[in-house]
Amino acid sequence: MQLFIDTANLDEIKAVSKWGVVSGVTTNPSLMAKETGADFKTTIQTICSYIDGPVSAEVISLKAKEMVKEGEKISKWHENVVIKIPTTEDGLEAIYQLSQKDIATNATLIFSANQALMVAQAGATYASPFIGRIDDMGQDGMAVLAEIMDIMDVYGFETQIISASIRHTRHVTDSALVGADIATIPYKVLKQMIRHPLTDAGIEKFMQDWAKK
Ligand code: E4P
Repeated sequence: MQLFIDTANLDEIKAVSKWGVVSGVTTNPSLMAKETGADFKTTIQTICSYIDGPVSAEVISLKAKEMVKEGEKISKWHENVVIKIPTTEDGLEAIYQLSQKDIATNATLIFSANQALMVAQAGATYASPFIGRIDDMGQDGMAVLAEIMDIMDVYGFETQIISASIRHTRHVTDSALVGADIATIPYKVLKQMIRHPLTDAGIEKFMQDWAKK
């Protein structure tokens, strides 16, 4: 399973780019709005200069025709840009049209296996089920992800599934266990994934023993 970072924060992206484990970035309008300074285009292009992999940038339009127009414009900003499209009827139409033009898409805000099935049929390059938000509703996000992975496997869809709306490290492990292609993970959770109290205690003990030599 590939690891993406879910942020528009340039400092966070620059920091993880040095680890050699993050192969893509997802952003959304809420994440973009949290960042001050550079405009949308400059931010996306800077992200692309830090991470050599797919970088999702979301359209703001809600009508298919405008989504396609916006997607075509954004796709010209960098060859690694992926156009993030909300999973609606207009979104399906836009995904289909953009796929016909060989423009990569990421169908976002997926909460059911049927939504994933439909965006895969429409030709989405990526599809993003929002695991944490499903859990927030008292339902089982990981069960929905597992259903999606089974369907993708049985029918051999090429759409890659991004486990999104990750809240904690267990979500990452479970996403890998059910076979998600990618997990897109907040910076805080990526940092938590590498930490273990026994690793810290082990280092401290080694340093103490070495000092006594
Ligand atoms: C995915 O592409 C989204 O940007 C993201 O995972 C949403 O997560 P949230 O539910 O924490 O906002």
